[in-house]
Amino acid sequence: SIADLLGTDGQQFELERIVTSTNDVLKERIRSQQLQSGYVVVAEAQTAGRGRRGRIWQSPFGAHLYLSMYWRLERGMSAAMGLSIAVGVAVAELLQQQGIAGVELKWPNDILIHKAKLAGILVELEGQAAAGADVVIGLGLNVAMPDSVADKIEQDWTDLSQLLGSSVDRNFWVAALIKAIRDCLVLFEQEGIAPFIQRWNRFDAFLGQPVQLKLGEHQVIRGMVLGIDESGALLLRRDGITERFHAGEVSLRHD
Ligand code: BTN
Repeated sequence: SIADLLGTDGQQFELERIVTSTNDVLKERIRSQQLQSGYVVVAEAQTAGRGRRGRIWQSPFGAHLYLSMYWRLERGMSAAMGLSIAVGVAVAELLQQQGIAGVELKWPNDILIHKAKLAGILVELEGQAAAGADVVIGLGLNVAMPDSVADKIEQDWTDLSQLLGSSVDRNFWVAALIKAIRDCLVLFEQEGIAPFIQRWNRFDAFLGQPVQLKLGEHQVIRGMVLGIDESGALLLRRDGITERFHAGEVSLRHD
C-alpha cells in the first residue's frame, strides 16, 4: 500500500475515494485540525478538480493521480512562489530518475514531456495568518488518459502509460511523489530557493527562447526568457531591459 511505501511518514497521509477537490479537502483539514507540514490528501477521483487560471481539471476515476500536500511557510506568503518552483523541480527530477526522457518545466509550474503536458501544480493559500502562511500544493498527474477526457483537452498532453509503455504502479508513484516533494520542501525551508535555481534551469522549456507572455486577458508581452530570480519570478529580457514577472494571472507560450 501507499502507507507501507511511505514507511514512517505513512501517518501523514489520507486516501479518499472521491472528493470535490483534494485542495478543498485539505483546506478543510487545515481549518479543523493541527496538521504537520507534509500532510497529504490523495483521491481516486474529483468532481470539481481545478487548474490554474480558473480552468477545470478533468478528474475521472482511476485515470490520473490527484493529491494535495500541506506546508506551513513560516516566512509568509512571499515565499510561496519559490515553493512552487521547488515542487516543480522535485517532480521533474523524480520523472527523470525513473527513466523518462524529455522532462521539461514550464514556468510557473507545468510539467511537460517534449512539450506535452504530463502534470500541473496548483498552489493555493489558506487563511490570512499575519505571520506565516498555510499553503496547499495540489498536483495532478496524468496516468492513463481516457478518450472521453482526451477529447476535451485543448493542449498537447501525455500520460505515464504512454511514456512507460506498461501498466503503471499507481501506489509507487503516489509514494515516490510524496517523498520527493517533502524532501525538496524541507531543503527549501532550510535554504530557500537558491539550491533550486540551477536545477530548475536544467529543465526550463523556455530558457533562452523568445516567448509571449499573456497578462490578464488582453495584454501580450514579447521577450526572451533568462530564467528565474531568487523569488521564483520569471526573468524576461525585452528591449534591452530585464523585467520580472510573478505568476498570478500570467501565461506563457513560445513566440
Ligand atoms: C494546472 O496545471 O492548471 C494545475 C492542475 C492542478 C490539478 C490538481 S489535481 C489535485 C489538486 N486538486 C485540484 O482541484 N487541483 C489540483
